[in-house]
Amino acid sequence: MRKNIVAGNWKMNTTLPEGVKLAEEVNEALKGVNANCDVIICTPFTHLASVNAVIDPAKLGLGAENCADHAKGAYTGEVSAAMVASTGAKYVILGHSERRQYYGETSETLREKVALALENGLTPIFCIGEVLEERENGTFNEVVKTQIEEGLFNLSADDFGKIILAYEPVWAIGTGKTATADQAEDMHAHIRATIAAKYGNEVADNTSILYGGSCKPSNAAELFAKPDVDGGLIGGAALDAESFMGIVKAF
Ligand code: 13P
Repeated sequence: MRKNIVAGNWKMNTTLPEGVKLAEEVNEALKGVNANCDVIICTPFTHLASVNAVIDPAKLGLGAENCADHAKGAYTGEVSAAMVASTGAKYVILGHSERRQYYGETSETLREKVALALENGLTPIFCIGEVLEERENGTFNEVVKTQIEEGLFNLSADDFGKIILAYEPVWAIGTGKTATADQAEDMHAHIRATIAAKYGNEVADNTSILYGGSCKPSNAAELFAKPDVDGGLIGGAALDAESFMGIVKAF
């Protein structure tokens, strides 16, 4: 059966010493807890190796926030999936709306990134979600379906089974405006049905679908109680160990 997961996305926050300290705090806090979910932190590239050295991999997973769409070579400033994997990281967030919006990521580049992540043994946390205009004009289900089809449906069922999905309505990211638990459930059920139509019920039932967007300790339990919401991808609230743990304990 699919896993429950709480993953932090630190985005472009924390210096290296601050990041190592935050990772140590989360790692320490997890020692006393029998979490009912997998717990992951996704940090800036610069932090990965140092964070990997201070966490217990049995309790806390580590991921990057992006990787390159090429394997290696003359791509100044890029970080490859192999480089990420060599730090000890096991996950990589791909297709975050901030990457799509600000850095022009397309489904085409994302297919390359997903393939390279999988080749290097990384688990992609693949993000999808509509913008406010699409929520308001009612096209949101179609928009998200297209993102999944274009970004992932080239995969074999076996490879698709390695993907974690994260539904992040763009209008809820960093805005304090969370999707209601019913809005999240409706979309997650739609995503699962989309997967089932392509890969069958078993693959769909085994896919973890996380919700992201202003998720915090006060609203996590209600969201996670929904049958198709398998956890959260957490931005702002992951930057403080106590609030992140508050979300972990919502399971
Ligand atoms: P916030 O939790 O800050 O809204 O960010 C969500 C997000 O984008 C996680 O990837």
